[in-house]
Amino acid sequence: MWWHREHILSILLGFVQILIVSAVVPFITDNSSERLSLEEGSWVGTETSREVQWAETAFRHVMSLDCKNVFFTTAKECEALQTIPKSSFIVHVAPFTGSSEYIVMLPDEKLTRKDTHQGVVVLDPYPSANFGHLVVVFYVDNKRREKCLNKNGIYIDSSSDCLTFALKRRCKNAIKRNTKRKHWARRCEINFLPVVNLKHRKRSSVSDKRYNYLKCWKDLKGYGNCPDLRPEIDAKDLICNPIRDNTKRCSTTHEMVHTNCKIFEICDQAVLISGGWNRETSGVRFKHNLAAFYRMLRQYNFKKSNIKIFYANGASGLNIPGEHAHQVHPAAMKLALRYHIQTLCRSPHCVNSLVIYMNSPSKNDGSSLLWDVDKDGLASNSEVYTVKEFKEDLSHCTANYVHVVVDQSFAGQLADSFRNSPNHRNVIVFAGSKDNEYAYDDEYTRHWVTSNHTQDCTWHIHQQSKNNLKHSSPEAQEGEKGEVRTTIFGAPCNVIPPFTHRELRRDYLGCQPLPTAVWIKKLLASAKGIDFMKTSWSG
Ligand SMILES: *[C@@H]1O[C@H](CO)[C@@H](O)[C@H](O)[C@H]1NC(C)=O
Ligand SMILES: *[C@@H]1O[C@H](CO)[C@@H](O)[C@H](O)[C@H]1NC(C)=O
Repeated sequence: MWWHREHILSILLGFVQILIVSAVVPFITDNSSERLSLEEGSWVGTETSREVQWAETAFRHVMSLDCKNVFFTTAKECEALQTIPKSSFIVHVAPFTGSSEYIVMLPDEKLTRKDTHQGVVVLDPYPSANFGHLVVVFYVDNKRREKCLNKNGIYIDSSSDCLTFALKRRCKNAIKRNTKRKHWARRCEINFLPVVNLKHRKRSSVSDKRYNYLKCWKDLKGYGNCPDLRPEIDAKDLICNPIRDNTKRCSTTHEMVHTNCKIFEICDQAVLISGGWNRETSGVRFKHNLAAFYRMLRQYNFKKSNIKIFYANGASGLNIPGEHAHQVHPAAMKLALRYHIQTLCRSPHCVNSLVIYMNSPSKNDGSSLLWDVDKDGLASNSEVYTVKEFKEDLSHCTANYVHVVVDQSFAGQLADSFRNSPNHRNVIVFAGSKDNEYAYDDEYTRHWVTSNHTQDCTWHIHQQSKNNLKHSSPEAQEGEKGEVRTTIFGAPCNVIPPFTHRELRRDYLGCQPLPTAVWIKKLLASAKGIDFMKTSWSG
């Protein structure tokens, strides 16, 4: 069968990549990068003491900093960092290359410009928080002691390696000038796991150039555990619907999402978005969150076909106990994602309660990172879903109610942008953290999926989360009218006496027939636009 062939092919391609990567090694005087297993972050054979020294030196340095005089974050954050036990940190490392070869990328800028480095160490003090969150990045270069100390580096005598702090561009000056600007330090922080590539060589192939050498270091004594990642092969290329796309590779416009809007009925619908960005930042827990949110919606009779899931580079399906695997679209297909939301919002009498769940890595302006399609580590327009775009897609939405649940860092940024918006009167945004806070440990998602939504307003469910979250402060914001006080499936809440299950089923859960007069009107209106007819009658 064809997908069998494709599977074998992709495994072969995987081998080819490993071969290409190992072929680089002869250029390198030390073979650390070969000995750090390319896929899984453990050392093959004996562990080198060199990189252990880097990690120890970096950690000691951070712990002994004078926080009043730092440039990578605020004094307050720096002091908080120094209270975190070593066992809570995790370490990522790009091992010693021997020659200056590494370039380092963040989603919003190239961290290295003309300079390249021989090693990179990243200390992650908040491994249970979503990205973005603060990480401390050091470059490593083999050089003379005086040269190192001149650059404010930290010198390691045993190896003559020099560690220097990686800082974002213009931040040192910005910190001196703008100390009163709101959240300026958040903008200066490196709050994303960088991508570390080898500098382009004439002879190297693209896949070689785009290999990310930075790996979470498993089983490093004294430090915390690395997150569970998806198998390398699953997180490599875009995965499209195998049945429809046949053997063709998918392009960003290829995958179309079938939007259900029927003439005779109005339904509750949901869109679940989990971008992931790349393998290192999209551990398996994000898939679990999607499955949990999906199951919760199914409990309140959202129809399977009315829950659309957009996930990272895609997946062959999402496993749900007791159901067939649910179809998953790649979040990388931003146009398809946006078009689906727009269609739901522009088709009259299509949606009663529209629920949007967001669980992506995010930038400090609130935008969601989808997937690094070209693997260059930089976030281009087609790889980011901005707050502005999201607001456009939801403006004057024809759904009766729009509930947005955001479990990602800086979620308050997104919520705040909807406050009193005249174009979003029926939209309410629930954020698991404030505009300058991180989202930790999936706790906001867990609150939503374990709550009983039968009678409670979403507003009330959110209020209850304030007592439940250990790490961050949830906030809710809504459009001008401030009128969304319904359950997640769009029923009036806290009715006395409560609706019976039968009443809920008849009047609110899942789909409801439209009154004849309404659908005739809808039919007549749609007869004017053939396109609309097509989307309306199909499905
Ligand atoms: C390189 O790795 C091999 C094992 O794969 C080892 O025998 C050799 O000593 C290593 N060389 C250096 C310089 O570490
Ligand atoms: C939710 O609450 C309703 C009563 O308000 C109850 O009938 C129902 O069993 C509860 N559901 C769950 C899953 O606990």
